[in-house]
Amino acid sequence: MNILLLGAPGAGKGTQAKLLEKRLGLKHIAPGDILRDEVKNETELGIKAKSYMDGGNLVPDSLIIDMMIKRIDKENGVILDGFPRNIAQAEALTEYFRDSGKTLDHVIKISVSEDEIIRRLSGRRVCPECGATYNIMFNPPQKEGICDVDGTALIHRKDDTEETIHKRFSVFDEQTRPIIDYYQQHGGVEIVHGERDVEDIFNGILQYIEEN
Ligand code: AP5
Repeated sequence: MNILLLGAPGAGKGTQAKLLEKRLGLKHIAPGDILRDEVKNETELGIKAKSYMDGGNLVPDSLIIDMMIKRIDKENGVILDGFPRNIAQAEALTEYFRDSGKTLDHVIKISVSEDEIIRRLSGRRVCPECGATYNIMFNPPQKEGICDVDGTALIHRKDDTEETIHKRFSVFDEQTRPIIDYYQQHGGVEIVHGERDVEDIFNGILQYIEEN
């Protein structure tokens, strides 16, 4: 099974994708996580991507599309979180599924208002080692500033400042929102209300997947 999660920055795609990965045994692939690792390791890709990411802009398609298709191709079922993010990426993904004989089974959009997103992202803290995500208001770690999983000091992502969040939101409106129409015309999009408890959203997504 292949699932695509859509939604604005901070809508909760990563949170739900990690839960779905555990429950359904599919591989969670998030270009944002891959790129942050590349930046941390100062690879050629990381060095090229850094300034786009810090400014809240999309990294050029020439650095993203091949990298993502190669990773998807290695897996037997994926949850995509953060790809595609514009029409060119969506078309490349459609072409890949068509040529490989695989199918994109579910496209799910998590819907959350901009005010709620700013609250969530301002409070988000992440573990730079294992990727666990916390929120100082809604889901704090047991010990302040420390990852529950591996004891690493948590960080506040560089692009989670209010100014960059607004920029990411406008990039989402201009470049990513059109792919919702694209998928509505190519098989449909399930819209999930994202301003609920993490568990309620997860159960709603599972129920939709089971029934469709
Ligand atoms: P990326 O890492 O993909 O960032 P994003 O899309 O902005 O998404 P986020 O990771 O910020 O949010 P999320 O929806 O996963 O929310 P989360 O679950 O963490 O991309 C970063 C950058 O990489 C881009 O700006 C771009 O430069 C580059 N990039 C990535 N993909 C690219 C592509 N395809 N093409 C080009 N460039 C690309 O939740 C957020 C917070 O809310 C957390 O604190 C969480 O605990 C909390 N939360 C979650 N659910 C709930 C809930 N139900 N109630 C209360 N709090 C909640």
